Amino acid sequence: MVMVHFLLLLLPVALSQLVGTSSDLQPQLVLSKGFSASPSSRFDPFLSLLTDPLGNFSLGFLRVDRTGLSLVVLHAPSSLPVWTTCQGPGSLSPWSGRTELRFNGSLVLSDSSSGEVYWSAGAIGDRVVLLSNSNLQIQRLAKNGKTVGSFDVVWQSFGFPSDTLVEGQSFSHDMSLTSTGGQYSMRLGTDFIGLYANFGGGEAYGQMYWKHKALEVKAEIMADGGPIFVRVEQDGYLAMYQNGTVPVDVEPFSTFHRSISTFHLLRLEPDGNLKAYYWTGTSWNVDYQAINEFCELPSPCGPYGLCKPGEEGCSCLDNHTDHSSGPCTGPISTDLCTSSSRFSVLRRKCIELPYKELMAYQTALSPEECEHACESNCSCWGTVYNNVSKFCYPLHYPVQTLLSVGDENKLGYFKMVATDPHHKESRRTGFKGAHVLTQVLAGIATAGMITGYRAWSQRKGRGRKWYKDIGSDSLGSMEFELTGTS
Ligand SMILES: *[C@@H]1O[C@H](CO)[C@@H](O)[C@H](O)[C@H]1NC(C)=O
Ligand SMILES: *[C@@H]1O[C@H](CO)[C@@H](O)[C@H](O)[C@H]1NC(C)=O
Ligand SMILES: *[C@@H]1O[C@H](CO)[C@@H](O)[C@H](O)[C@H]1NC(C)=O
Ligand SMILES: *[C@@H]1O[C@H](CO)[C@@H](O)[C@H](O)[C@H]1NC(C)=O
Ligand SMILES: *[C@@H]1O[C@H](CO)[C@@H](O)[C@H](O)[C@H]1NC(C)=O
Ligand SMILES: *[C@@H]1O[C@H](CO)[C@@H](O)[C@H](O)[C@H]1NC(C)=O
Repeated sequence: MVMVHFLLLLLPVALSQLVGTSSDLQPQLVLSKGFSASPSSRFDPFLSLLTDPLGNFSLGFLRVDRTGLSLVVLHAPSSLPVWTTCQGPGSLSPWSGRTELRFNGSLVLSDSSSGEVYWSAGAIGDRVVLLSNSNLQIQRLAKNGKTVGSFDVVWQSFGFPSDTLVEGQSFSHDMSLTSTGGQYSMRLGTDFIGLYANFGGGEAYGQMYWKHKALEVKAEIMADGGPIFVRVEQDGYLAMYQNGTVPVDVEPFSTFHRSISTFHLLRLEPDGNLKAYYWTGTSWNVDYQAINEFCELPSPCGPYGLCKPGEEGCSCLDNHTDHSSGPCTGPISTDLCTSSSRFSVLRRKCIELPYKELMAYQTALSPEECEHACESNCSCWGTVYNNVSKFCYPLHYPVQTLLSVGDENKLGYFKMVATDPHHKESRRTGFKGAHVLTQVLAGIATAGMITGYRAWSQRKGRGRKWYKDIGSDSLGSMEFELTGTS
């Protein structure tokens, strides 16, 4: 058995203690009407309230950032949250004796004194159970025509995924996966899976940065055949279906057809990558990743960052700023249209867009014409112009990481919103605060997966640099240590 030990600055507990129960609260197999529970005042990192019959998964209160509480379903052996009611900063409930989870027919997380409801499943049933596949269900006693004692499902967590899809869980066109922190999402189109980045700016889901279209080898998508859905299959692949029988697309993982009887999951990572993992019994190993190149992640170096393909290191668009000393910019306004948003202009050659095949462009006869269309438009944050093809790509969201290329004909024009350097430091602290949740949740999840990631990157023959970057990105101010013993 691998013992995983953490030295978390924000969550100073050993992982082996993470799944604990307080003496007065024993996890149950069924929650009946009248159930209620509140977190204790002790420093419990996790309080288990309900477990599945095999003991692999646990519904409970997860302590986040010392004083915050998130209701999660955790994979108990690895402490990996597979479902949560709270996906972004600001949506945490307080870790306090007043916070209460009740089952009064519906499952409600509320403040027992003020009555303020933090979260509610909004369905009426007779009992709550956690299935062995991690699906949390509210069930109602079946009435007439059914076997006595059978139950109907009135609500299930599988219908409301957070950032993870587990094996067997169907993901349909009306659902989305949202990365911890809330910046990235996965959604389905008519015949594709799309990953979107919400960097601010007008569009509903944000900018698409990855698209996987159905290959339709075994079955075709019928125009009148209804929406598609996807599912992680036990045999190690992500299947896309229209009618549920013959897949219209199969995206194989590395364990595909290797008859490894194990549990798979797919997760939208805090950095925007989509990864599949399988459980080895002691750790989660990476099985698949949608984006293989660091620089092709949606914003690996942050706003106004510059990524050089092949080197996996970050610098800044503005070469007066040093990326190693922190983000390339302070907090950026997501609205250029207010009169107070003045900007300066940064031009740089040898700039490329990371996912330009998914971006709209116009043609412009000269760099000046391309810039001019953007200059007076406050929904435009910059342009990338190809002085040979004459394609002009406007950026309709705050400038994110761009690629550094060797081609002098690729011209970048960027609006820089003047940030008072005097305010930069304090503002940045606020920015950090808002991301603490991201770091904690991501850290819990990522640390459990580090071993797996290493295995993956070694198999892929990649250097350790990306591993380090991703670690420092998502683990933030945490330190961790993984030790393997048998
Ligand atoms: C669930 O529990 C069974 C029995 O203890 C174990 O063999 C299996 O690996 C567990 N699965 C997961 C995903 O933890
Ligand atoms: C359960 O409690 C919530 C919050 O107090 C309330 O809004 C809801 O109506 C209750 N549901 C039932 C079935 O009593
Ligand atoms: C599902 O689609 C496949 C391929 O188009 C077809 O062969 C099969 O009969 C369909 N099944 C159902 C239940 O409609
Ligand atoms: C910064 O970039 C400008 C033009 O883009 C260049 O002229 C200047 O030499 C660069 N400065 C440094 C320190 O690299
Ligand atoms: C763009 O191309 C034109 C002609 O090919 C050239 O004259 C001009 O200098 C180029 N502009 C830049 C900024 O490189
Ligand atoms: C301004 O830019 C946005 C996004 O780039 C674009 O949709 C819009 O049409 C532009 N408006 C004008 C007046 O050009």
